[in-house]
Amino acid sequence: MNAPHSPSSAPLLASVPMAPGDPILGVTEAYVKDTNPRKVNLGVGVYYDDQGRIPLLECVRLAEAERLQSAPPHGYLPIDGLPAYDKSVQELLLGVQKKNIVTLQALGGTGGLRVGADFLKQVNPGAEVWISDPSWENHRQLFEAAGFKVKAYPYYDPRTRGVDFAAMRRTLDGLPAGSIVVLHSCCHNPTGADLSQEEWREVLAIVQRRGLVPFLDLAYQGFADGIDADAYAARLFEGAMSPVFLSSSFSKSFSLYGERAGALSVVTASADEASRVLSQLKRTVRANYSNPPGHGSQIVAAVLAKPEWRTLWERELGAMRERIKAMRKQLVEQVQARVPGFDFGFVTKQRGLFSYSGLTREQVGRLRSEYSIYAIDSGRVCVAALTTKNISYVAEAIAKVIR
Ligand code: LMR
Repeated sequence: MNAPHSPSSAPLLASVPMAPGDPILGVTEAYVKDTNPRKVNLGVGVYYDDQGRIPLLECVRLAEAERLQSAPPHGYLPIDGLPAYDKSVQELLLGVQKKNIVTLQALGGTGGLRVGADFLKQVNPGAEVWISDPSWENHRQLFEAAGFKVKAYPYYDPRTRGVDFAAMRRTLDGLPAGSIVVLHSCCHNPTGADLSQEEWREVLAIVQRRGLVPFLDLAYQGFADGIDADAYAARLFEGAMSPVFLSSSFSKSFSLYGERAGALSVVTASADEASRVLSQLKRTVRANYSNPPGHGSQIVAAVLAKPEWRTLWERELGAMRERIKAMRKQLVEQVQARVPGFDFGFVTKQRGLFSYSGLTREQVGRLRSEYSIYAIDSGRVCVAALTTKNISYVAEAIAKVIR
């Protein structure tokens, strides 16, 4: 932006520059404007059912029906959210509830990251934040907006289509104490390439040895192998050290995107430290949005508390996970059938909602302009938006642009 406004200068807003569109949500904006009836949005990370709809999970429908029936008033929640929600989030993520762990309801996983980032900026303003290369597009701007300098550690190797663990380890092992390391607990966004359990243990050892601050992002629990398996890294870190920061989200796993049901958990050294940390986190929340919304957290808490609904949720989440895997397989088969000799098989090994397809920016541009198929410029494609109806259209278009 230009120099600060002074009374003699041009009108206040006259020189406000146009900000670039958001690399993910900006794609949805363009998709919405597209009038092509065959358009497909493979940009944002949203799961669609095979009819191309964002599902209303049956467990959510049941909990909502019961809640509506009781016609509850719409009072404020506490600053740190619904207590029953916070407890069940902690249990679901970490497999335990402990007095030294703070869990605070937040506005989605993004909100959990931001509240944690603002707090970290207060306690260690000079720290650098290290994100993976590549990472979720919003990580960098979110931590920069909190005032941090953000750098990237090596992560993905396009030649092997997997993690370059040797390079990652080398970089982490050279970071100054206090550096904040953002780690994707599972279903790495955007690459779908995760660390093995052994590699996680090595990362933990480096983090402990060098005095780094781990900030785990767990937005896709249940979309790789299952609820407990996907929490491996979070539970490993919780059991071994403090502090550990953990943001989490139910947007995808409960299909509650617009309800902004997320959380920030912080593993501290003691119950006393936890209550002091919580008091500061609450100040951050109060100064930003006062307190979180009630509907989504009430629904999640109700589902997790009632054994039949929880079982139903696990089944529905399992079905989403399996449908995504089936779509990956079909996409690979259909593209390879059209482009013989082209090895696209790596797509079935990637985990979570996304495929880091290897499509170039130019190919992504052609998909959009020639076929109204929207993906992220990095080549990230949301395979959870493929359906039996649109998959051959998408496979045909990909085949055309890669030939
Ligand atoms: C994504 O990566 O597409 C999702 O996490 C949605 C978002 O907010 O970017």
